[in-house]
Amino acid sequence: ILMNPRVWEASGHVATFNDPLVEDAVSHKRFRADHLIEAWIAKKDPESTLVVDAMSTEEMAAFIAEKGIKSPDGNALTAPKQFNLMFETSTGVTEKGKNSVYLRPETAQAIFVNFKNVLTTSRKRLPFGIAQIGKAFRNEITPGNFIFRTLEFEQMEIEYFVEAEEWEQHFEAWNKWMEEWAAVIGLKTDHLHRLEVVGDALAHYSKRTVDFEFDFPFGKKELWGLAYRTDFDLTNHAKASGEKLEYTDPADNSRKVVPHVIEPSLGVDRTLLALLVSAYEEEEVAEGDTRVVMRFTPQMAPVQVAILPLMKKGGLPEKAEEVLASLAGIARCDFDVTGSIGKRYRRQDEIGTPLCVTIDYDSLEDNAVTVRHRDSMEQERVAIADIASYVVKKLV
Ligand code: GAP
Repeated sequence: ILMNPRVWEASGHVATFNDPLVEDAVSHKRFRADHLIEAWIAKKDPESTLVVDAMSTEEMAAFIAEKGIKSPDGNALTAPKQFNLMFETSTGVTEKGKNSVYLRPETAQAIFVNFKNVLTTSRKRLPFGIAQIGKAFRNEITPGNFIFRTLEFEQMEIEYFVEAEEWEQHFEAWNKWMEEWAAVIGLKTDHLHRLEVVGDALAHYSKRTVDFEFDFPFGKKELWGLAYRTDFDLTNHAKASGEKLEYTDPADNSRKVVPHVIEPSLGVDRTLLALLVSAYEEEEVAEGDTRVVMRFTPQMAPVQVAILPLMKKGGLPEKAEEVLASLAGIARCDFDVTGSIGKRYRRQDEIGTPLCVTIDYDSLEDNAVTVRHRDSMEQERVAIADIASYVVKKLV
């Protein structure tokens, strides 16, 4: 997470990882100039084809002046200036001996600076990927929209190393896999849209980027990115460090290449928010009776099985504990004894639990339980001896 500033100089982040900032001249509140321009266009000129991401600082300044765009508080705005998004801190135990370091704004660079270690220890052949999940930090000018834009967030990135001339085929493969993965985890794929990023809107390292956008309740916004980073990062780190970051062709030892990179870059928090949006439903189950249900896939549901003894007495909790013991190792379970059974079912619907297993007085006699399904609300009787294999079948 803490990385030497020379890494971020070599990667181009110190010079160019900026967002355009404007300030309310009266309240001194800060805003993203591009966001204010986009909001103005959406309201006053929705047919406009202007690509705001591709505007220079000067073009934004001119646009704001020409259209008379004000801050959301109605005051004049200062001219836009570029604001670096990296968090800076320092290492060292004495004031004098302090050195600047940055908290990483992307996990990607940690992969590039480890490229040689991974290659020499794993002896992988092209194409191969290095993946990393972890925290990234950005001093965002306007955090907000729940967990959509935060200062501290989780990224999962793959740097996929390929032969230069093969980049297009790998880019297309990842483009397809990312959409397939969205469907697998239960995102509403009709809410997912691709945006070909063009011109100046491309990041400093990218020759081609496709953004995956998602229809959030607060608008269509970027969910993930897929970028062709060329050999930009490895070449620049090699230059800055003096280390050769090359790959030797195993079929021809004299052929050394700097691999090119395809990068699927995914925000975990945004994915979670999109999953919540995709799963949420208010369903009318009878006249005047609506339930909230999270329709997570069984694999993604935070709780997969709820074990519910009908009463707190009469040996039912003990019997339910037995059922819990047989399921705890194979599914994420919840155990709930409080409230009426109807209320408990609704509570589990709101969590998105696919299966509820109820232990009633009959269970003491027939060694069977009632399984209630979240989506259909149908119930069936299953022998306790079979419940583990039944749950495995339903959750796979
Ligand atoms: N390595 C490339 C890269 O970092 P990015 O488009 O700047 O690309 C990738 O970020 C993803 O990280 C975004 O698509 C988004 O999912 C997530 N992300 C970026 N900034 C974020 C923030 N402030 N809060 C939450 N997620 C964020």
